Amino acid sequence: MAVQKWQDFIKKELISEEILQARIKEMGEEITRDFAGKDLLVISILRGGVMITADLIRHIELPLAVEFMAVASYEQGMRQSDGDVRITLDLRTPIKGRHVLIVEDIIDSGHTLNSVMDLLQTRNPASITICALLDKYERREVDVDIRYTGFKIENEFVFGYGLDIDEYYRNLPFIGTVDLDKYEAPS
Ligand code: IMP
Ligand code: MG
Repeated sequence: MAVQKWQDFIKKELISEEILQARIKEMGEEITRDFAGKDLLVISILRGGVMITADLIRHIELPLAVEFMAVASYEQGMRQSDGDVRITLDLRTPIKGRHVLIVEDIIDSGHTLNSVMDLLQTRNPASITICALLDKYERREVDVDIRYTGFKIENEFVFGYGLDIDEYYRNLPFIGTVDLDKYEAPS
């Protein structure tokens, strides 16, 4: 299978590794202050949330537990999510009475996080707070109350640092934008 190198289609490096890491450290410190004395359960939304979760929790200086949930929205490539969101991997543990911090890579239309919130609310946690690395605010279709935002970005498709294009490029330490004239889906 032929898969392009990121160098073949990147438009520009939008957020460097250094800037990402500095901001994530700040977010971790803020969360540390805000959740002091609380029993914190971090829920990482797979797969895009995995990079920020791993880096963020190293800057949260509190006892905490981590759980994972997977949600299907964008099925392939750059198609848009339509609000029809499925849970493909659920939590292993009850969240009743816990302070939940959801960690997500990007909020776009808002449908994914909105569905996750609705589902988790039915399980009676003590609180639910959202942390998103990126906020593509111009594309919002449903309101999402994001407490911790890494960066607000414009309406452009991005990749790297957890975010994929056709499931590739999540491993890059920076975030880039795509030149759609140059990108070819894997054949
Ligand atoms: P929403 O339901 O429209 O808010 O979509 C959120 C999900 O879409 C994210 O968790 C990502 O997996 C995916 N997504 C949205 N925008 C991008 C992007 O620019 N690059 C990669 N994935 C994206
Ligand atoms: Mg995602």
